Amino acid sequence: MSVVLITGAASGIGAATAREAVRRGHRVALADIDLAGATRIAGQLGPAARAFELDIRDEAAWETALDAVADQLGPVEVLVNNAGIIHTGYARQLSPAEHRHMVEVNLLGPINGMLAALSRMRAQGHGHIVTVCSMSSFLPLPGYTTYGATKHGLRAFHHSVAIEEREGPVTFSIIHPPGTRTPMLDQEMADPSAVITFAEKPLTPEKVASVIVDAIVRKPVEIVHPAIGGRVQRVAGVFPRLMRFVIPKVAAMAKRRSTGLVPAPTAVPEQGDTHR
Ligand SMILES: NC(=O)c1ccc[n+]([C@@H]2O[C@H](COP(=O)([O-])OP(=O)(O)OC[C@H]3O[C@@H](n4cnc5c(N)ncnc54)[C@H](O)[C@@H]3O)[C@@H](O)[C@H]2O)c1
Repeated sequence: MSVVLITGAASGIGAATAREAVRRGHRVALADIDLAGATRIAGQLGPAARAFELDIRDEAAWETALDAVADQLGPVEVLVNNAGIIHTGYARQLSPAEHRHMVEVNLLGPINGMLAALSRMRAQGHGHIVTVCSMSSFLPLPGYTTYGATKHGLRAFHHSVAIEEREGPVTFSIIHPPGTRTPMLDQEMADPSAVITFAEKPLTPEKVASVIVDAIVRKPVEIVHPAIGGRVQRVAGVFPRLMRFVIPKVAAMAKRRSTGLVPAPTAVPEQGDTHR
């Protein structure tokens, strides 16, 4: 059983992963910028779980958190880099601060975490780093511009480090969940520009958590979900001309499917607007 640090553990996929990891016997550090939320979840999980305040954008805070976890639970053996945010809307509708916020949290945050954990794991002679990424790391999608860009970048960083460290003691897994019913998805539901997310039936956070905690033991290189559909999407993303043709059709289907789920499914931008 391992000491597992999970970022973004106050909510959604991170909270479900913390629950599942404790259920399977791990000691779990729930790290989040929302300390009250992480403390509430940890309080439900018993002595194997502790909450820690961590803003993943802050390099120094990573060292403080890793020291605190080592003191209270033991040295971190598994890092689940999960915390992430989204600002929905077309690129031109978002402020520079919103674009920057996504880059800082979704890309620089996990980079900070990987670098901080990697040197400690190398020194202790073992460790596993799990990156929670997104299917948008393969697909250019309207309404997910900078979010997708951060996930493309995160995937590139993750695999590049894993290749650099292939002879070392640290192992790496990356997981790409599809739409998952969390507060992040609720935020997307409230914005018609992000309607494409309803092309697929969302998963529960518990399902994604089970895949993540399995990865702690099995150490897969990369997981897409669903296995077949995910592979098709991964290949499709390589062909932008194909995407221009397919995406408006998928968005129209997703808009129909979202009726009844989205509070006010109005004003989905027109096709020509999408691909300027
Ligand atoms: N929900 C989905 O449909 C979906 C799909 C694919 C990938 N993902 C990815 O899964 C991960 C978790 O998403 P979720 O849906 O559970 O989101 P969520 O909004 O439910 O939870 C995100 C958590 O991250 C925390 N957080 C935000 N900024 C932080 C910071 N600077 N430092 C530390 N913690 C911070 C929040 O407080 C929150 O607890 C994200 O990386 C997301 O991109 C989500």
